Amino acid sequence: MQAGRRARAARSPSQGGDVTLRVAVIGSGPAGIYTAEALVKQSAEPVEIDVLERLPTPYGLVRYGVAPDHTSIKSIAGYLRRVLELPQVRFLGGVTLGVDVSVSDLLSAYDAVVYATGAMVDRRLGIPGEDLPGSVAATDFVNWYCGHPDVDAGRFSLDSPEVAVIGVGNVAVDVVRILAKTAAELSATDVPHEVLERLRASRVEAIHMIGRRGPEHAKFTLKELRELGELANADVCVRPEEAVVLGGDHPRQVRGNIEVLRSWSERVPQGRPRRLDVRFWLRPVEILGTDRVEGLRLERTRLTPEGRVQGTGEFETLPVGMVLRSVGYQSVPLADVPFSMETMTVPNEAGRVREREYVAGWLKRGPTGVIGTNKSDAAETVRTLLADLAGREHELKTDLDTLLAERGVRPVTYQEWLAIEAAEAELGRALGRGERVKLPGLEAMLRACRP
Ligand SMILES: Cc1cc2nc3c(=O)[nH]c(=O)nc-3n(C[C@H](O)[C@H](O)[C@H](O)COP(=O)(O)OP(=O)(O)OC[C@H]3O[C@@H](n4cnc5c(N)ncnc54)[C@H](O)[C@@H]3O)c2cc1C
Ligand SMILES: NC(=O)c1ccc[n+]([C@@H]2O[C@H](COP(=O)([O-])OP(=O)(O)OC[C@H]3O[C@@H](n4cnc5c(N)ncnc54)[C@H](OP(=O)(O)O)[C@@H]3O)[C@@H](O)[C@H]2O)c1
Repeated sequence: MQAGRRARAARSPSQGGDVTLRVAVIGSGPAGIYTAEALVKQSAEPVEIDVLERLPTPYGLVRYGVAPDHTSIKSIAGYLRRVLELPQVRFLGGVTLGVDVSVSDLLSAYDAVVYATGAMVDRRLGIPGEDLPGSVAATDFVNWYCGHPDVDAGRFSLDSPEVAVIGVGNVAVDVVRILAKTAAELSATDVPHEVLERLRASRVEAIHMIGRRGPEHAKFTLKELRELGELANADVCVRPEEAVVLGGDHPRQVRGNIEVLRSWSERVPQGRPRRLDVRFWLRPVEILGTDRVEGLRLERTRLTPEGRVQGTGEFETLPVGMVLRSVGYQSVPLADVPFSMETMTVPNEAGRVREREYVAGWLKRGPTGVIGTNKSDAAETVRTLLADLAGREHELKTDLDTLLAERGVRPVTYQEWLAIEAAEAELGRALGRGERVKLPGLEAMLRACRP
């Protein structure tokens, strides 16, 4: 099907009698693409949606976040692809809001703009040593093994036998799994080849995963946790005294987590090459080292009657050479778009930011929730948008294609993205690996689509 890649004729600035609703969606992650889909489904008027994306590739964290060995989740890209191929939808890659186009450009070219740029930086721990070489944000590490063009494939070497992963959420679980698995286990995935070689050379023997509260407070989900217990290459250890959970009427999911962790505390190590220690009630207080990370100082914690984490004055030090900080993502402000530094989101009412400006996804509600959460979230934003714009006169002054051409910006088309995909499949075949292998870096991607 050629749709989604249609070459739409440049519009003249204002077209009397034209009832087509034109919307720019910024960001092609799940939130942006579900927004485009909801616009097509919900609008009574004809719609045209341009999805602008800073990368040459669509799908946001589905491509550059979801773990490479979670192929069934990655297959959601097949659903998102069908939205991009709708005749009303157009993908424009390599166009960054705040660099190539401004908010005022967009408001003069579209009836409405929806911001869906996600959350792309790490939250900080705020402890000494956080910026030492070897202290790594999970955002960077995930980008590395997912082949995100912002992070060079040569960026990390796993040359330390002991590594700490701070945080007990699902991203921490992903990071631990990638550290624990062998390169052979990851060979059939799409990780860039140089990354796979670096994973093959890994010297990691012990992984410490650190929660600052108890097993009942951990954020990981049961299915993801269970997978850690099935690792062929690593023994999983939990200290019985840290697996104890007193009383409480916990939801089923939490009870499941507690049960799994308790069963691990009874396991006898099988002498596998790597060991995963899942720890609780410890908070990081300092990352030690002079030129690079040499250790991690932790303090045992308890909860105050109000439920706050409090140090007990009892400390321990782990001899780790790498600290992976997986304590959550956060959004970054967009130029000329309101932003709350308190919630690190764009303030909105059911998706409305200001007149003709809307928000969806992680930028709207913060960095929590699975892919599917963004679907209902986008539907809400679109309901608000359509109600606000019903009966609106369409008076658009500029045309984005003309504006980009004048600035020398040549967007990556959907067709060109398909060429990148085809090159990845070809590389996978050539290397005798899986269905596809990610191309290393922006230049390689652009070479593949514009030979
Ligand atoms: C490491 C990780 C693994 C995950 N794994 C899973 C999983 O296995 N299963 C699951 O259900 N959920 C998973 N999630 C959650 C899921 O990925 C999110 O719910 C979802 O991606 C959020 O969608 P979004 O569109 O708001 O943001 P994103 O997916 O981040 O998309 C935002 C897009 O906007 C683009 N962009 C940013 N700034 C600009 C700009 N200025 N101009 C133009 N474009 C811009 C970005 O390049 C990106 O493509 C994971 C999350 C993370 C962090
Ligand atoms: N397979 C999947 O479905 C999948 C995979 C990856 C991600 N996701 C989703 O993506 C979202 C983001 O995941 P995430 O893991 O980045 O975030 P998250 O679920 O919010 O987990 C963050 C973890 O970091 C801890 N933390 C925060 N600040 C800390 C500090 N200062 N010191 C020590 N620990 C700290 C938190 O502990 P506290 O609870 O004590 O604050 C929590 O354990 C989640 O909704 C997740 O479910 C899903």
